[in-house]
Amino acid sequence: MKSLTDTVTFRHGARVNTRLVQSPMLSNSGNREMVSQDTLDYYGARSQSAGMVIVEYTNVSVNGGPSRTWADDRSQLAIYDDKFIPGMIKVAAALKKNGNKAILQLAHAGREANYAQAMGRVAEVPTAMDFPWIDYPLHELTDGEVRQVIKDFGSATKRAIDCGFDGVEIHGANHYLIQQFFSIFSNKRNDDWGGSLEKRMRFPLEIVKEVMRVVKEFAPKDFIVGYRISPEEIHSIVGYSWHESTQLIQAITGNYDLDYIHISLPQYNDKPKDSTKTFAELFQPAIGRQAKEIIVGNVLSEKDMQSAMQLSDLVAMARATLLDPQIALKIKEGRGNEIVDHISPEQVKKSHLTPGLINLFSDPRMEPHLPGRESIYALHETGSLNEDILKNGTSSSYNLKDLQDKK
Ligand SMILES: Cc1cc2nc3c(=O)[nH]c(=O)nc-3n(C[C@H](O)[C@H](O)[C@H](O)COP(=O)(O)O)c2cc1C
Repeated sequence: MKSLTDTVTFRHGARVNTRLVQSPMLSNSGNREMVSQDTLDYYGARSQSAGMVIVEYTNVSVNGGPSRTWADDRSQLAIYDDKFIPGMIKVAAALKKNGNKAILQLAHAGREANYAQAMGRVAEVPTAMDFPWIDYPLHELTDGEVRQVIKDFGSATKRAIDCGFDGVEIHGANHYLIQQFFSIFSNKRNDDWGGSLEKRMRFPLEIVKEVMRVVKEFAPKDFIVGYRISPEEIHSIVGYSWHESTQLIQAITGNYDLDYIHISLPQYNDKPKDSTKTFAELFQPAIGRQAKEIIVGNVLSEKDMQSAMQLSDLVAMARATLLDPQIALKIKEGRGNEIVDHISPEQVKKSHLTPGLINLFSDPRMEPHLPGRESIYALHETGSLNEDILKNGTSSSYNLKDLQDKK
């Protein structure tokens, strides 16, 4: 019988004392990509939100961000330079102070680096093509530049190790660069990085290889490495289906000893159109027995946690940890009935939401939203949601349905 408070041991020895994970979430608190006091207050308050907290998407290359889908400016964090190390050391320490594991999510936004131009940079893509919602220049990566991005993931991993993180998660989901290479919708290359499924898998696989190389050389033995994937990308042409993404996962877990695979889902028990099984179940054979599976999506109550746990080894929560930063502690102590399940002006303060997150979630147009959001509409100042994207249809995967409907 599974319990939410089971100890889970990863294949390289790291242990967590609950099946609950905090899903990566932009804290909207960076100051020119650097960790700010707001970032530290927010993560410091989340040292008991889960056994393992995955810190938000952090940019590994100069041109890999910032992405401002949900932020006005440079509030996304980065790790492409040693100058980011002192701040990130504090984030890792703040999360680990009560025995939590701290994982850093490594990302390159690719075409979604929609604030890059404003910072004198250029958004990089597998193939420069016309995306209806994009009104800034896109630079098609050369073979040499592709190889440099792969190295950037390795350098970022080394910095994460030096900062004291317990692991890294490679962000292969949510329409960012890795997914853009894997998807036939956005990858029209005919060199070694595009074309057949095998060639479209090469960029993700080379990144995993480079990250693992750095981990084997520099990290403690029990360092955790995970990979996040969106199970499908469906437009009028199919970017990829679960039939292909399970092959990618099989290739990753068959060749590299990753600790976990994280399936990015809007609803934890979602199923594809052509199967009666959930994505969580369909990915299990590809993940195998050695790596753990994490699922996520609309887990907001103890009941949701219990039923999601039946489908997977670990259950991640994003918004629930904004509402109640002590959610896992309460489960551990048998106080599930005390979990805060809606936002209020009072809870905004108690849960140490950053000003950027308050502004985002008090915007009536924000999706996915926090239950009880009407009570904080008065806190909304201006901006937050990217007006251009709202006008043209968002490119964020959490609103993938919008994107699908548009094409
Ligand atoms: C404000 C916000 C920021 C997010 N930022 C990230 C991110 O940095 N990286 C990522 O992989 N997913 C990100 N997500 C997606 C979440 O990790 C999660 O998959 C999604 O919110 C569904 O989980 P939930 O229903 O528990 O909120 C973000 C979601 C929200 C609401």
